[in-house]
Amino acid sequence: MVHFSFALFAATAAILPFALVHSLPSGPVPSVPSYVKLEEAELQRLYKDALKEGGLVTVFAGGDLPNGAADLAKAFETKFPGTKLNITVDLSKYHDELIDKQLAMGGDALEPDVTHLQTVQDFPRWKSEGALMQYKPIGFKYTYNPYKDPEGYYWATNIYYFTNLVSTSLPEAQRPIEAVDYLKPEFKDGKIIYAYPHDDDAVLYQFMRLIKQNGQDWFKAYLAQKPLAVRGTTTPVYYINNGTSTVSFTTAGSLKPIPGEKATTIVPKTTFFQSWAQTGAIFKKAKHPATAKLYVSWLTSYDVQKNLMTDTWSQRVDVPPPAGMKHIWQVKNTDPLGFRDYMMDRAQVEKDKAFMEKFIGPVVGASPLDLEYS
Ligand SMILES: *[C@@H]1O[C@H](CO)[C@@H](O)[C@H](O)[C@H]1NC(C)=O
Ligand SMILES: *[C@@H]1O[C@H](CO)[C@@H](O)[C@H](O)[C@H]1NC(C)=O
Repeated sequence: MVHFSFALFAATAAILPFALVHSLPSGPVPSVPSYVKLEEAELQRLYKDALKEGGLVTVFAGGDLPNGAADLAKAFETKFPGTKLNITVDLSKYHDELIDKQLAMGGDALEPDVTHLQTVQDFPRWKSEGALMQYKPIGFKYTYNPYKDPEGYYWATNIYYFTNLVSTSLPEAQRPIEAVDYLKPEFKDGKIIYAYPHDDDAVLYQFMRLIKQNGQDWFKAYLAQKPLAVRGTTTPVYYINNGTSTVSFTTAGSLKPIPGEKATTIVPKTTFFQSWAQTGAIFKKAKHPATAKLYVSWLTSYDVQKNLMTDTWSQRVDVPPPAGMKHIWQVKNTDPLGFRDYMMDRAQVEKDKAFMEKFIGPVVGASPLDLEYS
């Protein structure tokens, strides 16, 4: 459930000396760094260019929630009247195949101007194939170094994570925090819901790390609980909301509690949890380069990272972490670069998928993008 929650942008500029920007302050950061005004001025300059071009940008976004970018498109088009964010959400593993096909066709076959995906292994390859534009968006220089190509061909657009998502119908003492808690008898027979690891590499990586940390016996005992497997990392949210299941650890919630939600997010204290930087780029063959630049600069701007993406961490070192937490690269029980490295080794990924299929059975069900949620 990647909500893009909204808060009004408080424009009271405070002074943060430039030298402090990269020193990762641990206490509260002054509300808004002074250079945010410069980011806004640059966005307005890019906006003028975008309008001259027609204001349209086409984006292929990785995700598994139908219409999952509607809020994002609305925010962009409201801030920049006359623009159109034509964004298609699909599983990254389907988007990247289509992009490869369109790139191979040549000519003007390539549809997207911009993509942001979880298939992070594609970006160095596309760069070496000469498919990407060299462009450093507004957020680039404040982005945590390992999350970006130093030459600016690709960069993090946002942070995704999977933690415990727990029904608020469970008394606090029963809410699972660590992997071992999922083995309790009260979670037998479908109370646990999870996304098939062999359908989504981000879930696969999480399971491999959980097995490494907690042992194969934990994994076998987990499966003996008869958890419910579904397609889509957002799907568990719906089953928890309607009371079918009560707990999941393969889905994102919101680090900022959302009033009225029937599920709450709990970050484990010692159990490994999955987090990664969704990675984005503009294609060299982009048909709408000016609006593409406006879009990625807006997406990585301080304002959007701090005030729109309030349910997660930011890749920007100057955006304060969620309340009570550290920056994601300072959190001990996640590995913000581990997934990127894992994704490079396709032979290992295929081996691990086969392992999961052996224990769990084949992936069944429609693509999560084709499900109707109520
Ligand atoms: C919007 O994106 C889709 C690709 O998902 C593309 O087929 C369509 O032509 C785009 N719309 C416009 C107006 O360019
Ligand atoms: C709960 O939601 C899921 C996903 O939308 C749906 O498939 C299931 O039938 C629902 N169950 C109940 C009891 O409403």
